[in-house]
Amino acid sequence: MKIVVLAGGRSTERNVSISSGYRITNALRQKGQQATFIDLFLGYDLEGKTVDQVFDDANTSKDLKISDAILTDADINKLRTDGSTQLFGPNVLAICKAADIVFLALHGGDGENGKVQATLDLNNVKYTGSGPLASGMTMNKVFSKEIMLYHGIQTAAFKEFKRNQPGEHKVPFDFPVVVKPTSGGSSVGTHIAHNQEELESGIADVFRFDNSAIVEEFTPGREFSLGVVNGRAFSAIEIKVHSGWYDFKHKFQAGYTDFITPPKDLDEDVHQAMKDVSLQTMDVLGLQNYGRIDFFANDKGVWVIEANNLPGMTPLSLLPQEAEADGVEYGDLVMDIINGKLKLYADGMTEAGIMTAASAD
Ligand SMILES: Nc1ncnc2c1ncn2[C@@H]1O[C@H](COP(=O)(O)OP(=O)(O)O)[C@@H](O)[C@H]1O
Ligand SMILES: [Mg+2]
Repeated sequence: MKIVVLAGGRSTERNVSISSGYRITNALRQKGQQATFIDLFLGYDLEGKTVDQVFDDANTSKDLKISDAILTDADINKLRTDGSTQLFGPNVLAICKAADIVFLALHGGDGENGKVQATLDLNNVKYTGSGPLASGMTMNKVFSKEIMLYHGIQTAAFKEFKRNQPGEHKVPFDFPVVVKPTSGGSSVGTHIAHNQEELESGIADVFRFDNSAIVEEFTPGREFSLGVVNGRAFSAIEIKVHSGWYDFKHKFQAGYTDFITPPKDLDEDVHQAMKDVSLQTMDVLGLQNYGRIDFFANDKGVWVIEANNLPGMTPLSLLPQEAEADGVEYGDLVMDIINGKLKLYADGMTEAGIMTAASAD
């Protein structure tokens, strides 16, 4: 198959995405696929090649070390030398149209929030993961938590604050609280606040990245994450940080966190509850093909932290580790995701498929 691995883009998680994309590209090539890595934002200089010849290019071959730098839109815009800022770089859409499917290795912001998915749908380009509507809902922690609560899925109490709302930010629960960008990821801009002063500075920091901040009641307990691929919930992975909490550094630099899968000393009922709630959360949010649900478990049961519609696929990422523990090696995981989504297209079961069927009446 001709496969574009679309990565990079313009979000605070750009560097994470590039690392995921390199690993996916290498794995697909090892599986004999014609895979090419394309940076969504920087595009591809054809230099006289046809779009089909791009798939013969073997220009990527190693796993990147992830930079600690948190890139702003302005930093990323500077990477393109012609001064233009539209998200799709030169030739990206033309190359995607020549592919059998696009593997979305994008994370965060535009890339994960459904806009790229909508653009690809409108151009009849097939891609992995969920459709635009489910992606948009899932990327927004306020909307997704409201849907979860509506369906009786336990998740921490929260309050949203929008930028430019005047006055002090009062929350209806006790400190400590967790402050996050409503549409963020990879713990970028996330803070634990122990008092009003820390809450105010946390919210101010969030507004560097997002127009909306979500403040949540702190959930104590053991942290887990659980990947779902084609309706199968993998074994949970426990996340044990050596100190502090699971921030950007713990997520992407080796040696600060223990990842244990399958988890040890976990009641089988609790593990099963997490698997069941993962599938239910995917379902109520309309997520398809694959995703990952983050959890806390404590004496009051299992609590969903958030759902991820394009979970990380870097060497340290959780879903690949869980799959491997359950006997699915990385290359097979990537192929399962592709084949699972192709089946949804064949069955007319994607968001795009549903809309096509409805409009045909
Ligand atoms: N309500 C909460 N209580 C305690 N810790 C939390 C809470 N929400 C998030 N965290 C911590 O912050 C991390 C990042 O939060 P999460 O909602 O998963 O955002 P992101 O999209 O950045 O991954 C979590 O993995 C968890 O360690
Ligand atoms: Mg998370």
